[in-house]
Formats: sequence, C-alpha cells, structure tokens
Amino acid sequence: MSTSVTKPERIEQTRIAAVVDLRSDTVTKPTPAMRRAMAEAEVGDDVYGEDPTVNKLEQRAAETFAREAAIFVPTGSMGNSIAIKIHTKPGQEVICEERGHIFNYEMAMLSFFSGCMPRPIFGENGALNWSDIKKKIAPGIYYRAQTGLVSLENTHNMAGGTVYPQAMADEVCDGAHAAGIPVHLDGARIFNASVALGKPVAEITKKFDSVMFCLSKGLGAPVGSLLVGSKKFIEQARIYRKALGGGMRQAGVLAAAGLIALEEGPKRLHEDHANAKFLADGLQKLRGIKLNGKVETNIVVFDISGTGMDSATFTRKLMEKNVLASGISPTEIRIVTHTDVDRGGCERALAAITEMIS
Ligand SMILES: Cc1ncc(COP(=O)(O)O)c(C=O)c1O
Repeated sequence: MSTSVTKPERIEQTRIAAVVDLRSDTVTKPTPAMRRAMAEAEVGDDVYGEDPTVNKLEQRAAETFAREAAIFVPTGSMGNSIAIKIHTKPGQEVICEERGHIFNYEMAMLSFFSGCMPRPIFGENGALNWSDIKKKIAPGIYYRAQTGLVSLENTHNMAGGTVYPQAMADEVCDGAHAAGIPVHLDGARIFNASVALGKPVAEITKKFDSVMFCLSKGLGAPVGSLLVGSKKFIEQARIYRKALGGGMRQAGVLAAAGLIALEEGPKRLHEDHANAKFLADGLQKLRGIKLNGKVETNIVVFDISGTGMDSATFTRKLMEKNVLASGISPTEIRIVTHTDVDRGGCERALAAITEMIS
C-alpha cells in the first residue's frame, strides 16, 4: 500500500542498495533461503486444490491460528475484501476505525464489491471500545441500514503500529456477537501485536470470526496473505478468491517463501520493535518533531509541523540523503522498521534526519 500523500517516488535500482528504506515493511526482498525454497517448490494447480506447497501453507496457517481452515490470497486487501463480502449483505453497514486500512486504502471495495457502507469511528490509538461501537450499531428497524460487520485492525497501521488492548478487543467481540454481528480482524501485522503482547496469535485472535494476516509485511515474504476461519467460511472464500482473479495456479512458488516467513519471521520481529524504539527515542529529542503516541511495534508516526517543512519537502530532502520515509499527511511522516534495515541503517537514518533539520 502506498501511504504517501504525494505520488510515491520510484527509486532507481542502482540506488536502492545504498538507501535505508523505511517507507514500509512491504519493501523487503526474499532471503536466500526463500529464493532456494521458491526454486525448489513442489507445485500443482491450486485452483484444482493440487498445489502441495500451498496446501501445506494453508494447513500451517490454520494450525497456527487454531482454526479449521485457511486460504492463501495474493494480498491482504483481497483477504479483507473476501471476508467483508462473506460476512455482509449488500445494503448493510460495516463499523471500522476512521484511519483503518479497509476504509482508506482498499479502493472502496467495501462498497464496490460488497455493496456496503462504511461507518467509521475515531478510536484513540486506532482502537475502538465496545461502548463507542454500541452507539453506532443501527437500531433493528426496517428503515435503517443494518450493521452487518465490525472490523478491527491490529496492529493499527496509521495510528502508528499500535497494539489493540486484549481486554478491549475481547469485549468488542463479545458485545458484537451478543448483538448477532460478526467481527473480522485485519491482522496484517498481527504477529507484531503477538510479539509485543508476548501471547500467541491463536490466543489474541480467538474471539474473531475471521482473521486476515500478511506474510509480505514484517514476516518478510515477497508476496501473500492468508485468511483463516471456519471450514465453511474458507469454502466460501475460495469462490470469491476465484471471482476476484485470485486463483493463482502453481502458486507454490510463492507459498514456499510464505512458509519460511510464517515459521521464521515472527522470531525476529522483536528486533524491528527495538529498532523502531531506537528511532523514536532519537526523534523525540529533535526540535520540531513530535511523536504521535507511543511506539509499541515497528511503526513510528511523527508530526513535523515544527520543522517548517511539509511532508513532501521532508521526504524529498531525506531521499537526497539516501533515506526513504512516507508522508502520510501534509504534516505527518511514517517510518517502518523491517528485516532489511538493521541497527546500523537506523543509526544512519537518524543521523540524516538530525542533520537535515538542524
Ligand atoms: C493494516 C493493513 N491491512 C491490509 C493491508 C493490505 O495488504 P496488501 O498490501 O497486501 O494488500 C495493509 C497494507 O499495507 C495494511 O497495512
């Protein structure tokens, strides 16, 4: 997903090796082990259910989340779109957080594909509590569009990688279920939340009806996401994945990298979190920079109004120093740590920002 308010810069390939790329955790390149596994992957036609590597990945994902089934999808956006389609009927509303990905960055698929209307609510740190949601649930009268789904995001990207407080997420699920409303989780970065909370993903997501998570973010795979849920839900998901053009045939070449990401990726996320904290600690000492909330995982969002620059100028000047960041509003910058940027890279990035604004 592009988060720049301006057109995202295309970086020349000769330059990319020298830059510290903190635009997103989606920019990682496959590791040598992933490339080997991709080259050697056993494959078959996944539309016929015959790709052994995809089947293995789906099985491992279901086991990891303690669910009946899982489906491999090309992108997180497709996973969310499919889940919303299954949970809702056209003409219903979907309650989500105002800065959420499904509302802002999924090309209005919630309306376009599912025929629903978003009902966004602002939540402190990107988290909605049950009492906020309850007030927005449509009364059960025939002349009001009914609430078809509540969708939460954990970690919350635009709120700065914030982790959903577990009791709050559980209360939302219990409250929505009591009202007969399903709850989907956009868990693009749920493994970051799991590491920050010190609890397995199966435990922190168990009350949700469906969960989408990405392999292609902090876990380091080049492509792919999974949707997990009940057997019946995933059977329906296969129909919509095909309808959206997501039947990828010999997709085992991608799933092979995904399996490594799923098994190995979570083990090193604490390093990304420590690097994000290192950057945040340094940034908050700089004049003109204000952090937007606490840094809990691998994302740092900060306000640069006090520097006298807008975000487009800030990111352009930083790029001249071989550091890439995203402008997410005219006054806010987002930086994201990941497996392809080590502590040395973070030190270089911090030094470049310090030099630029002093
Ligand atoms: C919170 C969140 N959900 C979903 C997505 C969509 O993932 P993809 O880029 O694979 O479509 C992203 C991507 O940045 C995201 O940050």
